Amino acid sequence: MRRLQSDRRHHIRFTLNGSAAHGEAEPRMLLTDFLRHQIGATGTHVGCEHGVCGACTVVVDGMITRACLMLAVQIDGSEVRTVEDLAPSRDRLGVLQSAFKRHHALQCGFCTAGILMSLDHFLRDHPAPDEGDIRDLLSGHLCRCTGYTPIVRAALDAARELAGSSTNEENTHA
Ligand code: FES
Ligand code: FES
Repeated sequence: MRRLQSDRRHHIRFTLNGSAAHGEAEPRMLLTDFLRHQIGATGTHVGCEHGVCGACTVVVDGMITRACLMLAVQIDGSEVRTVEDLAPSRDRLGVLQSAFKRHHALQCGFCTAGILMSLDHFLRDHPAPDEGDIRDLLSGHLCRCTGYTPIVRAALDAARELAGSSTNEENTHA
């Protein structure tokens, strides 16, 4: 039987966390499934699959994106960042991740990857957020375990640490 045009797999080339990557996807495959099952980037979680819970949040071409609302074919030629990009190495956590650990800002961890990606993206442009800013950002994420307060504390702590390290860098380079 002749294969329908819509069944054809597409070859997708993109940049994943700074490195060239590629894979095959059917036209209607979601970005979440592509990242997890084709690429092996399983840090991106899948919760509601309706753009509500935020568990699947990644950054595509500098924009915070719900990977469950995007088709894999749409990232052809794009730059994608996932939670795997946050740790400097396999045995070291990034600043935000360490703050989450210190403040017990995760329990089951299901929401955590998405929240970390949103926070990481936000703190790049907002180095001195207040609690209201962080709570506004978190309104796009559902967490059933923590009550959000430890996440807010961790985010504010990480923001201070990141601001301190960039000030130190400026002083060193001055
Ligand atoms: S799985 Fe994408 S927003 Fe819930
Ligand atoms: S830590 Fe369990 S849903 Fe957030």
